[in-house]
Amino acid sequence: MCGIIGYCGPKPMAEVLLEGLKRMEYRGYDSAGIAVRTNAELSVIKRAGKIATLREAVPPELYGDCGIGHTRWATHGGVSDSNAHPHLDDSGKVAIVHNGIIENYTVLREKLSSEGVEFSSETDSEVIAHLVARLYDGDLTVTVQNTVQLLKGTYGIAVTHLDQPGLLVGARNGSPLVLGVGEHEMFLASDVTAIVGHTKQVIYLEDGEIVTISADEYRTTDLHDRSIDKHIQIINWELEEIEKGEYRHFMEKEIFEQPDSILRAMQGRLDHEYATGHLGGLNMTKKELLDLERVKIIAAGTSYYAGLVASYLIESIARIPCTVELAAEVRYRNPIVERNSIYFAVSQSGETADTLYAMRELQRKGARVLGICNVVGASIPRESDGGVYIHSGPEIAVASTKAFTSQLTALYIFTLLIARMRHMSYEQGTEFIQALEQIPEQVAAVLGGAPKTAELARTYHKARNFLFLGRGINYPVALEGALKLKEISYIHAEGYSAAEVKHGPIALIGPETPSLFLVPDDTLREKVISNMKEVKARNGQVIAVCAEGDDEVAALADHVIRVPRVHELMYPFVMTIPLQLFAYYTALELGRDVDQPRNLAKSVTVE
Ligand code: G6P
Repeated sequence: MCGIIGYCGPKPMAEVLLEGLKRMEYRGYDSAGIAVRTNAELSVIKRAGKIATLREAVPPELYGDCGIGHTRWATHGGVSDSNAHPHLDDSGKVAIVHNGIIENYTVLREKLSSEGVEFSSETDSEVIAHLVARLYDGDLTVTVQNTVQLLKGTYGIAVTHLDQPGLLVGARNGSPLVLGVGEHEMFLASDVTAIVGHTKQVIYLEDGEIVTISADEYRTTDLHDRSIDKHIQIINWELEEIEKGEYRHFMEKEIFEQPDSILRAMQGRLDHEYATGHLGGLNMTKKELLDLERVKIIAAGTSYYAGLVASYLIESIARIPCTVELAAEVRYRNPIVERNSIYFAVSQSGETADTLYAMRELQRKGARVLGICNVVGASIPRESDGGVYIHSGPEIAVASTKAFTSQLTALYIFTLLIARMRHMSYEQGTEFIQALEQIPEQVAAVLGGAPKTAELARTYHKARNFLFLGRGINYPVALEGALKLKEISYIHAEGYSAAEVKHGPIALIGPETPSLFLVPDDTLREKVISNMKEVKARNGQVIAVCAEGDDEVAALADHVIRVPRVHELMYPFVMTIPLQLFAYYTALELGRDVDQPRNLAKSVTVE
């Protein structure tokens, strides 16, 4: 979603702001802008387009004592220079940047207009600048406290005032805001990636908190100006982790990091002695785990598909009913919370509004909601009743890759834990652990075949439609493969159960609609082969992802991608990788913006 940066300190102002925006560009990238306070004025420069376009418009000598910046993902008002942030009040003395949605902006805008205020954008955010200007009484902190009390909706904001040299005020409600504490410099950001190059000391603001910063000081308060003591936390990310290094794109880097990221997700969590999983962060007693009667998973996008894979696993080996639901559908459906059930909120970013709000609604009803998240300190892990961090390291490409396989790893270990409390024997547990521990190496072997997948992408990149077909535990993998291709290549792709094709989608089959079949050597292999034959009989082009040595499948398909033979339940890991690579290389062939595909944002903090 939108990214916010604020800076007070001695470094070249424009440079710090632009660099911070660049690092957060994955959050939203349709327009961007900065406001820098000098003694004479607030200099505001904003442009539709990417940070590079903004950078060209910013004079290098733009110095000041404080500044704010913003990268936008449009919600209210189209993509234009005037709708880009920062927004100014009429007098040009107040500049604000905002992430979130002001739900009562129409009422506020009408009221302000009737009082003579002229608006220069179509955004909901601009009302904040006018309100701050009108309520300003010489104390910017108190003014912002009073202003946000008039707002309904979500916001992370940063505010500067011409009459307040070297001072910024930030506020948070529902959209993340982090304070970075440096040596004689302070930062505000919606994301630690923006500031990790400058400081590792951060304070995460909670909803309803206000922060005032200058180069040497910060103060955190509630909305009534009462001081709040906050802990400084240390970020353990290194700068290299948020840089591309030798790779062309973050997505490429993140795909190839998976042997390591999967390993990190399992480290310290497999108990060989008792052949079980160990997840201390669940905050659940053995008795509570034993009493579990139902597991429910809520998530969006790729995380939803990780949940779907897990639902097959949980039901098949732990024998506990498990349902998965799109988080956006949960909140407004008056969900039924059953006793002895737990929910997992699966979210890479930990900030997805659909998932966060669904989680809050469930918690209000008394549900125990556990998070499976990557970003430490994000809203979902902070507000959840426990959970698992997947430790993938920063995922910067908009299309999620390594987070998916690490989410799977965490959910597999959870399943092992509860399965071993039920029907799974010690021997089966040991076998499961051994199979899981081989995954990093097997994923590395699949990555070794990347050039072959790149070749396939050259063959198929002109296709207008694609079908991704799988069955059983690999059916959600097919859905994820289709999502990946759609997201970054803009080719229309659908994921289906291979069995379902004959019930409708087969009408699409023809030379212009290739199908990618996932054919592991599991119990459904024969069935999938029959589905493949049905497609071949109608002149459909078939790519098959199958186990090494499966010559029967290879003979049927037009093209084949081979993956190592693995434990039947582990195929989702090795089957996912070629689909990620296929999407990546197809997008490359088509000259797409791989890391920042059109219209998308990495972390969607609005409903
Ligand atoms: C956005 C991203 C998707 C992602 C989804 C869920 O829509 O573009 O790639 O899968 O959000 O994100 P989360 O951070 O909750 O896993």
